[in-house]
Amino acid sequence: MEKTFVMLKPGVFQRRIVGEALSRFERKGLKIIALKMMNLTKTLVEAHYAEHKGRDFYEKLVEYTLSGPVIAMILEGDEAIMLVRRLAGATDVRENLPGTIRGDFAAHTRLNIVHASDSPESASREISLFFKPEELCLWEDGN
Ligand code: CMP
Repeated sequence: MEKTFVMLKPGVFQRRIVGEALSRFERKGLKIIALKMMNLTKTLVEAHYAEHKGRDFYEKLVEYTLSGPVIAMILEGDEAIMLVRRLAGATDVRENLPGTIRGDFAAHTRLNIVHASDSPESASREISLFFKPEELCLWEDGN
């Protein structure tokens, strides 16, 4: 079982598609084991996007991520990191396909609605940035 971190960005509230985005992951069979709505601090956003500091889109990316609330969550499943990235769609707006969250709801690479960890290392780093261990709700299927 793999855990991955997902952040639904402020655009999901502006577009009223929180439920739609969440249901894409649930319908696939991924398990929500932590979920919260947050107003992020600049410190947390800068830590989250530290690898992009210095890129031409960085300041605007931070500004967008702070422009409203986000949903932070941890999803669990076999190969969850890869599955969630496929459901989210490609980062580049010219490449994300209809049927993916970005392909269906994002018209700009920077305003791309959803963030998903890209490796086990980034999943573990991002999970610990956003969640305390006691915020994870481990539950079993079948009851
Ligand atoms: P995300 O998956 O949250 O990770 C980094 C974010 O930077 C990415 O989604 C986009 O929102 C943004 N981003 C990445 N590349 C570009 C780009 N070329 N132009 C604008 N924004 C970008």
